[in-house]
Amino acid sequence: MDVETLRVSLADAGQSHVLQFWDELSEPQRTHILEELQGWSPQELNGFFHRAMAAFSVSTTQEKVDARMEAVPRDVLGSVTRDREHLNDWEAEGFSQIAHGKVAVLLLAGGQGTRLGVTYPKGMYDVGLPSHKSLFQIQAERILKLQRLAKEKHGKDCIIPWYIMTSGRTMESTREYFKKHCYFGLNEENIVLFQQGMLPAMSFDGKILMEEKGKLSMAPDGNGGLYRALGAHGVLKDMEKRGIEYIHVYCVDNILVKVADPVFLGFCVAKEADCGAKVVEKMNPTEPVGVVCRVDGVYQVVEYSEITLATAQKRSADGRLMYNAGNIANHFFTRKFLQQVVEVHEPQLQHHVAVKKIPHVDSQGSLIHPDKPNGIKMEKFVFDIFQFAKKFVVFEVLREEEFSPLKNADSQNGKDNPSTARHALMSLHHCWVLNAGGHFVDENGTRIPAIPLMKDVGDLPIQCEISPLVSYAGEGLEPFVKDQEFHAPLIINESGVHQLVRNGTCH
Ligand code: UTP
Repeated sequence: MDVETLRVSLADAGQSHVLQFWDELSEPQRTHILEELQGWSPQELNGFFHRAMAAFSVSTTQEKVDARMEAVPRDVLGSVTRDREHLNDWEAEGFSQIAHGKVAVLLLAGGQGTRLGVTYPKGMYDVGLPSHKSLFQIQAERILKLQRLAKEKHGKDCIIPWYIMTSGRTMESTREYFKKHCYFGLNEENIVLFQQGMLPAMSFDGKILMEEKGKLSMAPDGNGGLYRALGAHGVLKDMEKRGIEYIHVYCVDNILVKVADPVFLGFCVAKEADCGAKVVEKMNPTEPVGVVCRVDGVYQVVEYSEITLATAQKRSADGRLMYNAGNIANHFFTRKFLQQVVEVHEPQLQHHVAVKKIPHVDSQGSLIHPDKPNGIKMEKFVFDIFQFAKKFVVFEVLREEEFSPLKNADSQNGKDNPSTARHALMSLHHCWVLNAGGHFVDENGTRIPAIPLMKDVGDLPIQCEISPLVSYAGEGLEPFVKDQEFHAPLIINESGVHQLVRNGTCH
């Protein structure tokens, strides 16, 4: 669109100030600002703003949703602890779908990682494991291992395509990182990067905020920006061409994520679900985690702030919290369901409002750093589409086996940071070694008692890391460890077992 047409369209939408400093801008700045104004029209943006603000004001004034809420009924709920007798069947079903090339994984990696405070994509982060693998590498190796396991079980080569959603802020560095590391052993053509949309921050009166004279204050449109991006970049067509029927969607920051978990996939397929959510048990009523439940008969995620403490504290007969299906943004979708979402439902999804302090230039061109919230960012969430599912299922897994997100920097607080992520992974791998019949000994050669998985932030785990290329979920470790004693740190990778010798190095 040429600048004059754009000027008219901005004026019609009451947003002329966006080009106020046009005459002062250099050519690259002009090109940049024109690029930022693509992907949505000013009128459309105003529509997003008004609908988001209207929903936001209803949500802040309306009564809590307690009276309209129901917990997930048992018939749509699977559990790794309560359905042990079905786990092997579900796993076999999942592996069969993988082996027949029907499964893809889709990674949500368009976030800005503000709390972690790094300038590069979070997937490139090294939490300090003995191997120094990044989150991307761990996930890539889990995919490779699953392909190998499926081949062993079904005797044929198979591919799990990996779709990675990035944003304007993470696309180029993600692409370069994968290239530099030779796609961690995966084939380049089976890793499909695509970019989600960005939206400008808005003032409370609906004006686009400018970060600089020639730059809008842009942010990714939330992980639910996925659905618009799927349509915009033809991703579902690519999946269809490859014969994909089932998609596992997950977040980049969970170090324990079981990418394309065959058990979860098999459970969802066996239940003929079009949409599934993996959850962990919410243990504490005040834990700030959204719970999957039904409201007015429709599945959704209800945030802690949307219910009263009395409801959050309610317990079932078994003593567990009644609303305990803690959402971990780990989902199953059929391709057909996503197709329908993209074609029919996506435009109906409203943006959620995040009220923020947003630095911006004023009409004089001076940079203002507000000391109180001055505007909003608009985001959609990946779980906004649960409401459209015809058959929705929930699968409960153990937090210590499957969920440890990296959100904060180590210095910020003791939760969800590089140390907790690193410890969660090593503690799980320690358990795998014990389960496979191995033992750890201290510096005097005395056996260290087998400990349960870490529960507290203060517990220090045994340093133990097992490459995903050796074991996906604890399987196949007996030949490496059974009836053997190890000193920590212990690393088990494709070249064998490596442990600490006296001078502090590994061999
Ligand atoms: P978070 O909401 O934790 O955001 O994202 P974040 O960007 O990682 O971190 P903060 O809030 O800035 O500190 C949960 C998941 O959703 C993805 C993230 O990459 C992460 O995998 N995400 C988030 C997107 O893909 N796009 C977005 O616009 C936002």
